[in-house]
Amino acid sequence: MVPTSNDGRAGHRQPRLGSNPQGSVLADDSDSENRLVEETKEYYHQRASQYVDWSHDTGTYEGGGTPEASWFMEGKMLLENLEKEKLTGNVLEIACGTGEWTEVLARNADSVTALDSSSDMIKRNKARLKDNPKVRYVLADFYDWKPDKLYDAVSFSFWISHVPGSRLDEFVSKVSRCLVPSGRVVFVDQQVTAEKNEVMDVPGGEVSIRTLDDGRGFKVIKHFYKHEEIREVFLRNGIRTRVSNTSTHFFFVDGRKTT
Ligand SMILES: C[S@@+](CC[C@H](N)C(=O)[O-])C[C@H]1O[C@@H](n2cnc3c(N)ncnc32)[C@H](O)[C@@H]1O
Repeated sequence: MVPTSNDGRAGHRQPRLGSNPQGSVLADDSDSENRLVEETKEYYHQRASQYVDWSHDTGTYEGGGTPEASWFMEGKMLLENLEKEKLTGNVLEIACGTGEWTEVLARNADSVTALDSSSDMIKRNKARLKDNPKVRYVLADFYDWKPDKLYDAVSFSFWISHVPGSRLDEFVSKVSRCLVPSGRVVFVDQQVTAEKNEVMDVPGGEVSIRTLDDGRGFKVIKHFYKHEEIREVFLRNGIRTRVSNTSTHFFFVDGRKTT
């Protein structure tokens, strides 16, 4: 699950990043972008122990506030929706985190390949799933990972907003290449309006300042994609999608590979 607010305390200094008119990290500034991708991974690795979810009263929300009731209600709707999607066969879950979504996917799938770059996230996911034999864990950076087989479905929750604009096409192309013909894609994330809860490094950019309970600050990729951008990039990569909003906070996407 994602944090809702941020107190904006940055614990260490980093060079300021430029941004292009679309709000992405500059295309020729690949070192900065790589550092941000690494810092995003490190932030979540360090955050695993204070990570919160919709069904367990554990962890803390960034900034210390508790989200409004509608946030929990809509979150539960997303989980129910994922179950209703009935993703069967071999399912790939990208950025599986502590397992709230893995748990749901494992109900209908024959197998779930749960990938995450954080060993601590995977450890917690395993504990939550009680070593469910359907679930195979992969500790990897998705950008570097070489898919080992074709999947009937790919799912990712609260992940696409951590993909920088300059890597979106590469990411979606890889998702498409992971899928069998007519394979399915289902994912969720926050609506663009959630940007107001973030402390952005540069207004309208795609870098957010996140702070852990112990005060350490991180720069994290946080790109609020518009529905049209999502539809277009997936279609360009052979996946037709339908994007729907919950009342206030989230969006839900279901898609199918067209070939
Ligand atoms: C916002 S959390 C979402 C976790 C889970 N899907 C959920 O909704 O509870 C983002 C997750 O992405 C993982 N992550 C960050 N960068 C990654 C990368 N490059 N490759 C794979 N996983 C990554 C983090 O470790 C973290 O578990």
